[in-house]
Amino acid sequence: MSEINFEITKKQKAFMDSIAFETLFGGAAGGGKSYGQLLDAFLYAMKYQKSKQIIFRRTFPDLEKSLIRVSLEKYPRNVATYNDSKHVWKFKNGSIFDFGYIDNEKDVYQYQSAEYDVIRFDELTHFTEYMYLYMISRCRGANPYPKGIKSTTNPGGIGHGWVKERFIDVGAPNVIHKCQLTEENKTVSTRIFIPSLLQDNKFLLQSDPDYINRLDNLPKKEREALKYGDWDIFDGKFFTEFKRDVHVIEPFKIPNDWHKYFVMDYGLDMLAGYWIAVDFNKNAYVYREVYQPNLLVSQARDLIKNKTEEDIYMYLAPPDMWNRHKETGKSTADIFAEGGIYLYKTNNDRVQGWKQVKEWLKVYKDEQGCDTAKLKIFNTCSNLIRCIPQLVHDDKNYEDVATEPHEITHAPDALRGFCVYWTQEPIFVPENKELPFELQTDEPDQEVWW
Ligand SMILES: Nc1ncnc2c1ncn2[C@@H]1O[C@H](COP(=O)(O)OP(=O)(O)OP(=O)(O)O)[C@@H](O)[C@H]1O
Ligand SMILES: [Mg+2]
Repeated sequence: MSEINFEITKKQKAFMDSIAFETLFGGAAGGGKSYGQLLDAFLYAMKYQKSKQIIFRRTFPDLEKSLIRVSLEKYPRNVATYNDSKHVWKFKNGSIFDFGYIDNEKDVYQYQSAEYDVIRFDELTHFTEYMYLYMISRCRGANPYPKGIKSTTNPGGIGHGWVKERFIDVGAPNVIHKCQLTEENKTVSTRIFIPSLLQDNKFLLQSDPDYINRLDNLPKKEREALKYGDWDIFDGKFFTEFKRDVHVIEPFKIPNDWHKYFVMDYGLDMLAGYWIAVDFNKNAYVYREVYQPNLLVSQARDLIKNKTEEDIYMYLAPPDMWNRHKETGKSTADIFAEGGIYLYKTNNDRVQGWKQVKEWLKVYKDEQGCDTAKLKIFNTCSNLIRCIPQLVHDDKNYEDVATEPHEITHAPDALRGFCVYWTQEPIFVPENKELPFELQTDEPDQEVWW
């Protein structure tokens, strides 16, 4: 085997070492993502003889200008040769590395009978979800080699939404998450998102130190995407104050003497409920989530009870929970009360409520000069984190949130109930552990684990 000398960044190493079935290395421009792909493909081909890999760009000119050109510069010819007409690197050990493109969805059928050990996408957000999922079915082989789909991308592009949902919204970055392969296919897949920043790539920073400043000339949306790798870019975004690195935090053990609230938005289409703890400085931490459709009121109530071991200071719910159902004469609040959960009515003034959510999310500097906010969300509350940045202004009332697509409104609606509650009530921060009314249980010092 011939020697090849290279140095890699920490993030490139993480990308190469990933053992997840689906890996996304994504973010700001120039972080070394495409270079990482080519190097990883080369090393894989050398390590696993007769292995098969392919890398996609959306169009052939894109491939030619980027990946093919760089591979021709970097790959040593004594171990592999490039076939220009077939766009494939053939290695002396029998491995192959194809360059492919999928211009439109029908193009995937060209790969109907193909098999690859590793399938790679560069600029994944240029592809549709269908193209990606179809190609997953081509990742197989009768050998023990590690199989996987390895992708690199910047935020933005036609696939921004599904890529974000698939890799960013599933939980914390740099951690492998077990997920269902698709909504219909229950096979478990593993996914990891490795964020990439230009600052990770010392090679580019050294050779072209002004590159980072040139990104300032881009329009705001592109700049946020390419300079900071911001996945929450979205025209008309309602909660512009929401910043994943400020508001989303690693879970920690909530002290027993902080007050805990439960707040929900309930309908047959979705129960979205949140457990929120408030510390002595009036900071709130959303620490647990329930997000489940098709539950009858009593089932929703029992699920909430089962998930609650700690003392809850107050269960908050919107006023429509007090509407009586014609058939039974009972309200949702009555049915909750029958099971020992006494709901407290919040206010349904949407505009006031959203203003309060904005107050809670507002980013300010802490004593160390770092960005912080009054409300933080544990990274385990994935639906709330997914939905807040997707909300947009209502066309007719700028101060309200659009109610479509409906699915993304449940979690923020629940949070709004908590935030608006604080405008109805004098802010109460516990000085002792006594709970105010009958919700008090016999075990106030119970340990709480998440
Ligand atoms: N490990 C490395 N060693 C030497 N040069 C590197 C290395 N990684 C990246 N580079 C160089 O840094 C520059 C940017 O890398 P690359 O094109 O891979 O970034 P990218 O993240 O794909 O950028 P974009 O977001 O624009 O697609 C290129 O000139 C590349 O050759
Ligand atoms: Mg690139």
